[in-house]
Amino acid sequence: MSDYSLLILPGDGIGPEVMAEVRKVIDWFQANRGMRFTVSEDLVGGCAYDKHGTPLADETMAKAQQVDAVLLGAVGGPQYDNLDFSVKPERGLLRLRKEMDLFANLRPAQCFNALADFSSLKRDVVSGLDILIVRELTSGVYFGEPRGIHPDDNNPENEGGRVGINTQRYTSGEIRRVARAAFELAQKRGNRLCSMEKANVMESGILWREEVQWVHDNEFPEVELSHMYADAGAMQLTRWPKQFDVIVTDNLFGDLLSDLAAMLTGSLGMLPSASLGAPMDNGRPKALYEPVHGSAPDIAGQGKANPIACILSFAMALRYSFGEGQAADDLEAAVERVLAEGVRTADLMGPEGGTPVSTSEMGDRIIAALSAG
Ligand code: NAD
Ligand code: IPM
Ligand code: MN
Repeated sequence: MSDYSLLILPGDGIGPEVMAEVRKVIDWFQANRGMRFTVSEDLVGGCAYDKHGTPLADETMAKAQQVDAVLLGAVGGPQYDNLDFSVKPERGLLRLRKEMDLFANLRPAQCFNALADFSSLKRDVVSGLDILIVRELTSGVYFGEPRGIHPDDNNPENEGGRVGINTQRYTSGEIRRVARAAFELAQKRGNRLCSMEKANVMESGILWREEVQWVHDNEFPEVELSHMYADAGAMQLTRWPKQFDVIVTDNLFGDLLSDLAAMLTGSLGMLPSASLGAPMDNGRPKALYEPVHGSAPDIAGQGKANPIACILSFAMALRYSFGEGQAADDLEAAVERVLAEGVRTADLMGPEGGTPVSTSEMGDRIIAALSAG
């Protein structure tokens, strides 16, 4: 019997609500598919700050380094907005990504047929859409030095007298390793990769373009590679998203473009993600799985959150960390079936209205669909 270790970090806001539905899915796979999960649960984000005065305790960080996979709900909330920058909930998540060296963030955007009329774009533009954004996750302007807010002493003409600094910095090695991951993924899909940067205005963008091209020419010449400026990429993603197969881009552009891509699928509540690092001793990558959405403070505590993004993130864990591809396919098919039956959380209600199900009912319906096979 296979035995997998999993650290669950539900986090803040709707994080614990959507994670409760994932727990049902885990229980189902244990009861019905002979998988054994050793699950531990811990705090991250604002709730960790409330208890420990830090958004990620060292013990939690150490646990994350030891398990087969980490599953995270969401972090953040308005009650933490005025905390010192160093202890903000988001810092907990960024520390996990950085210390686990999870450089490749896979953000698939798939439009389920049943939701094709729900996107803000026309059905033709989104139906059948299946793209994958690979976002670099451990470098770029999120982590570059120097950074900070400083007095602007030598500039008397600066009204307010302060300067805020962040640095976009990429090494060739950082670009090559995420490009490699993206080419490998493209090979398993439509064999096309589009790289996005702003080589027209940023030196880091020029390096990005050259290094992605280098990886292509030396290692993946058979994959069709194109380059696009990221602003034009945003336009093309809304104009005709089906022109893309895999997109590779930097940390900040990937953050923006993946939220944009979320709306092609109908709701931010639908988008899962996998953050992958280098292979561990067992040959599987170090990994953290999380929905793309945040803690949704506007609907937290009301049973309204869509748990599908988190459940599909667990499907990605089944595929990438546990080698359970069939189980992942079955879980995704169960989600698709439930949506086809017209079951909708509030975020998926179109203008025609209807009665939404709660977070927990959505979880139950997905379990029922799994059981029905
Ligand atoms: P958000 O993703 O939390 O919410 C944006 C909008 O989408 C809201 O209207 C929300 O109700 C809706 N939404 C999000 N997820 C949903 C779901 N599963 N079901 C139904 N509706 C959903 O983004 P925000 O409001 O910009 O940020 C809120 C907090 O979350 C901030 O503190 C932010 O830093 C944090 N955040 C965390 C993560 C993360 O933990 N990975 C990601 C993004 C934002
Ligand atoms: C995301 C979020 C995070 C990011 C925040 C919460 C740190 O927006 O995962 O998309 O900016 O990467
Ligand atoms: Mn984001």
